Amino acid sequence: MRGFITDPAGAAGLRLADDLPEPVPAADEAVVAVRAYALNSDERNLIARRPDGWRPGQDVSGLVVRAAADGTGPAVGARVVCYLDWEGWAERIAVPVRRIAVLPDNVSFEQAAALPIAGITALRALRVGGAVLGRQVLVTGATGGVGQFAVQLAVAAGATVTALVSGPARVEEARALGAHRVVTTLDGDTLGPFHLVLEGVGGPVLPQAIRRVAAGGHIAWYGNPSRRGAEITLADFFGYAQGWNAHLVGFISPVPEETLGEDLAILVALVSDGRLRPLIGLVRDWTETATAFAAFEDRSARGKFVLTVG
Ligand SMILES: NC(=O)c1ccc[n+]([C@@H]2O[C@H](COP(=O)([O-])OP(=O)(O)OC[C@H]3O[C@@H](n4cnc5c(N)ncnc54)[C@H](OP(=O)(O)O)[C@@H]3O)[C@@H](O)[C@H]2O)c1
Repeated sequence: MRGFITDPAGAAGLRLADDLPEPVPAADEAVVAVRAYALNSDERNLIARRPDGWRPGQDVSGLVVRAAADGTGPAVGARVVCYLDWEGWAERIAVPVRRIAVLPDNVSFEQAAALPIAGITALRALRVGGAVLGRQVLVTGATGGVGQFAVQLAVAAGATVTALVSGPARVEEARALGAHRVVTTLDGDTLGPFHLVLEGVGGPVLPQAIRRVAAGGHIAWYGNPSRRGAEITLADFFGYAQGWNAHLVGFISPVPEETLGEDLAILVALVSDGRLRPLIGLVRDWTETATAFAAFEDRSARGKFVLTVG
């Protein structure tokens, strides 16, 4: 069976091997023939850290070719999307049924593959704030893989959404996602206070966002692509917005694992009825995975990068 493994000598640290073992499913696992997968920014780091034949791949869609032996989960022939920890960039994979959602006909394999990590992160981080109907929500890194879903989901949930983007070139992109207000800095005096902040940039943006959180509000800090440290003081909570007793949450998305499939099904339904539109910037045959990673590095294409298999 073919699939990608890490190899420091290969382009982007990857090699397409043709001698991988067929998946051997546990009783609660279905076997899925992979049709598409998407790249996540963190996968670059995982590949660099595990250069020894490790098998990457987390966001996958495909067709069930063997149902779970315990009788649970989708039947053979079902079109599905899966949230994996690894091994997804291969022709076939074994997936626990609790990590699978079935796709309606109007959701493509490419759209579905864009959803798992980024969509689940946005969906679950949004829940950190509880009900957001009519409330102010700030999304930082709003045009990133996670940010694009965070903006759309917060709008769908009835929030008034402010998007922080990296510069003027991203403003229209954030508006197209539905953001009510788009800013390139958090310096403005008229910002917030925010009931919820979905913080995906880190560095100096984090204390700036804390200064904008409402009393008792929440900051779900899920990412640090700026790769810069942040100095936070207690005074940041008591500044402009008087965010007394606000909560700073170090957010991780795959927990709880048991309901990943349920949450994927929510995202799929939102795509199906048009309330969520995965922004896909690049679709290529999976043999071009290394090239797609290069485009990821320089962000020459926008949105999620999807590779198709077979
Ligand atoms: N906690 C979790 O469970 C979880 C899950 C998924 C991802 N993550 C993390 O979340 C972060 C975002 O992931 P992603 O897939 O959305 O990555 P991404 O697609 O690379 O998006 C990153 C976003 O941050 C913006 N950005 C980067 N550096 C910035 C800076 N210095 N100032 C302002 N904006 C900046 C980018 O701007 P441009 O749009 O201009 O490029 C982009 O919008 C990563 O750190 C990732 O590791 C965490």
